[in-house]
Formats: sequence, C-alpha cells, structure tokens
Amino acid sequence: MKIDLLSPSSFAAGQPHEQYRWLREHAPVRWHDEPNGPDSGRRGFWAVTRHADVWAVDRDFQAYSSEPTIMIQDPAAEQAAGFGPYKMMLMMDPPEHTAFRKLIRSEFTLPAARLREDRIKALARQIVDAVIEKGECDFVSEVAGEMPSFVIAELMGLPLEDGRELYKLTETIHTAPEALPPGAGGAAVMKMFEYGSGVIAEKRARPGDDLASKLLACEVDGRKLDDMEFLLFFLLLVDAGGDTTRNLLSGGLLALMEHPEQYAWLMADLPGRLPTAREELLRWTSPVIYMRRTAKHDVELAGQQIREGDKVVMYFGAANRDPAAFDRPELLDLARDPNPHIAFGTGPHGCLGQHIARIEIDAMLVEVLTRMGDFAPAAPPEWLASNFISGPKAMPLRFRAL
Ligand code: HEM
Repeated sequence: MKIDLLSPSSFAAGQPHEQYRWLREHAPVRWHDEPNGPDSGRRGFWAVTRHADVWAVDRDFQAYSSEPTIMIQDPAAEQAAGFGPYKMMLMMDPPEHTAFRKLIRSEFTLPAARLREDRIKALARQIVDAVIEKGECDFVSEVAGEMPSFVIAELMGLPLEDGRELYKLTETIHTAPEALPPGAGGAAVMKMFEYGSGVIAEKRARPGDDLASKLLACEVDGRKLDDMEFLLFFLLLVDAGGDTTRNLLSGGLLALMEHPEQYAWLMADLPGRLPTAREELLRWTSPVIYMRRTAKHDVELAGQQIREGDKVVMYFGAANRDPAAFDRPELLDLARDPNPHIAFGTGPHGCLGQHIARIEIDAMLVEVLTRMGDFAPAAPPEWLASNFISGPKAMPLRFRAL
C-alpha cells in the first residue's frame, strides 16, 4: 500500500480511509518520510492511527509537547523569528497553556454556550431564509460557512459581515501552500492581524460585553495581555471555529445524501435522534485531520521507540474508524451509542468550542433538514486541498423548499 499522508491529493476526495486502514492493521505507529522536512534532526514523523494510541498521546503532555507547533511542517526560521517569544495557546504546554486557557474558559462552558442557543437558532433561520427561494446554492459558502462566521463575529462583538471576510482568510490559511499563489498564506495571516489591530483600537476605546473586550481587560501573571498576545488569541478563535464547523455541516449533509436509509431514519424523529446523529457525523467526517506533537524525551508508543525531538502526528479520522473502538466503523450508523469519537481531540487541548459547535450544528441541521429537501448535486463537490482540515470547499446543490 502506498502511504502518503502529506500530499493534499491524498485528501482530494475526503480522507484516505484505505491508507488509514492499512496503517492501523500493519503499522499503527509508523515512520513517514517528510521530503521537505527540516535539514536538522530527522526528516519525517510518526503517524499514529489507532484510537487508543491517539487518545494516549493527546493526553500525555508530559511526554508529547504541543511546542513549537501542532502543524507537521515547522515554521520557517524567519517566521519563527518574527513571532519572537509569542505562541498561540494551541501551541503551548501546561502550565503556561493552563493559564491562557483559563482566560477564556468561562465563555465556552456548556451553560455559557446554552445562553447563546436562541440567538444561534435565529441565525440558522436567517441563513436558510437567504437561500430557500433559490432552489440551488453552493451549500458550503452560502449555508454551512455562514454559521461559524456569524457566531465568531457575535462572540467577538464584530459586524456579521466582517465575520464572513475573516472566515475567507482562514480558508486561505488552512489551504496547503502548494495549492496557493506564493505568499498568499502569509498575506492572509497579515490581513487577519491588521483587522485584529483595528479590533484592539475599537474595543479599548469602546469596550463592550464581548469576548474581545474581555480578553483586552483580563490579566495573566498580574499583567494585561499585550497586542501580540491578543492577536494570537484572535487568530486562534477565528481559525479554530470556522472551517471545522462548516466542514462538519457540508460533509454531514453529503453523508446523509449518500446514505438515504440513514437520512430517512433521522427524519422520522429529528429532535429525538439528532444527538446521536450529530455525534456520528462528527465521527464520520472528522474535520480536523491531525494534530502534531513533539516528543519531549525518548518514549515507547505501541512498541515503537520514539526519540526525543521526533514529531508524532495523531490522525483523528483514522482513530475514529478503528474497529477496536467502534463496532463496524465503516458503517454510518446515526443511532450509534456509545460513540467515543475524538473528532474534538481530548486532553488539555481538547476543543474548547465543542459545546458551541454542537449547538451550531444542531441549529443548522434542524433548519436545513426541515425546510430544504430533495437534495441533488448540481456539480460534484470540490474538496479542500489540505492535509490538515478535511471537507468540501464547494458543494453546488439543487433542492426543494419543503
Ligand atoms: C465541528 C467543529 C469543530 C471541530 C471538529 C473542532 C476540533 C478541534 C480539535 C481536534 C482541536 C484540538 C484538540 C486536541 O489537540 O486535542 C480543537 C481545539 C480548539 N478548538 Fe475546536 N473544533 C470545532 C469547533 C470549534 C469552535 C466552534 C470553536 C470556537 C468558537 C473552537 C475552538 C477551539 C479552540 C480555542 C481550540 C484550542 C484549545 C486549546 O488549545 O486549549 N472549535 N478543536
């Protein structure tokens, strides 16, 4: 079996489940070459594909560090120098990570997320209202992508339209560099920072009851966040909740269209069946393909000797189809319960936005599935050229208003 988990072409029609299966069965912790890897150290990474091993690595921050980055490719030297000592929370280890996560944790608890539920339902209605008469739309940009863009804008206290623009930038940031014009990724990050600097000025002058204002007012180690710390938080929040939620919605609808009997089962009792169905769609689509860690010291994982400094990459989509954790994992089973998927990761970095994400997903699925029906492709879906985030980039659909 040819294994290539780096080329975006391996992810051009969804996740490479055949490769994942081979890896889980034959080499669950396998060395993978990285032709464009760093000149220093070893060029490659360990690909981890079994559920139990992904789970163990994600929780063991003493052995597996999120520094210097959670992407397979190390940042270019000049980029690393540009950020100096600054890091995103996603790329910190405890105790530093714990202190930063504490700053925003209370905004993302289940009770805090529930307070937003009515507003999120109203946004879902508004999004479907905008396309319902058309009978045809690009489901990704006109429906699925709208929700996370609007929610992040509301969380941050920004105009909804700006949420949409920021979201377009995240899409560029998550696209494989080889699929973009030279410099486009860096330019998108710079634009995000320019916009974030405007937010700093605005929220310092007129603080509101939003997360951006709260972040600017809060303290870590007895001092306020400086501009760069704020900007990295801003980038993380805009980045983390955008195309992940969008891809779940688009990939989830595609899965329903491809499994009409499951779709019909769900519709027979949508409110009652949505909770298990949503978790199964999360398992099935696994929008975040991987997170990388770096071994802090020599350590053994499933019989493989990992050396200090080695990259260790957890493949969530592979773990979520592991027969050791799921009965008949290749079947979409919307009634699956229990469903120990790790689409949101686990351990100290486990998705902070998961309660909000679940509310967004449920609100959108209810609006879409009760008001739109008879979905048919108007053109084949086009997938994101990315080995990091999985999902359709465009999905033109015809539908009937119900
Ligand atoms: C279907 C939607 C989503 C999926 C599949 C998803 C998945 C993930 C995953 C896999 C991680 C890394 C976990 C780990 O390393 O163990 C993560 C982290 C994170 N997510 Fe999500 N996410 C989603 C939606 C959201 C939303 C809506 C928000 C915010 C509004 C959000 C905010 C975050 C943040 C802030 C982190 C970093 C946490 C940390 O470093 O402590 N996510 N997410």
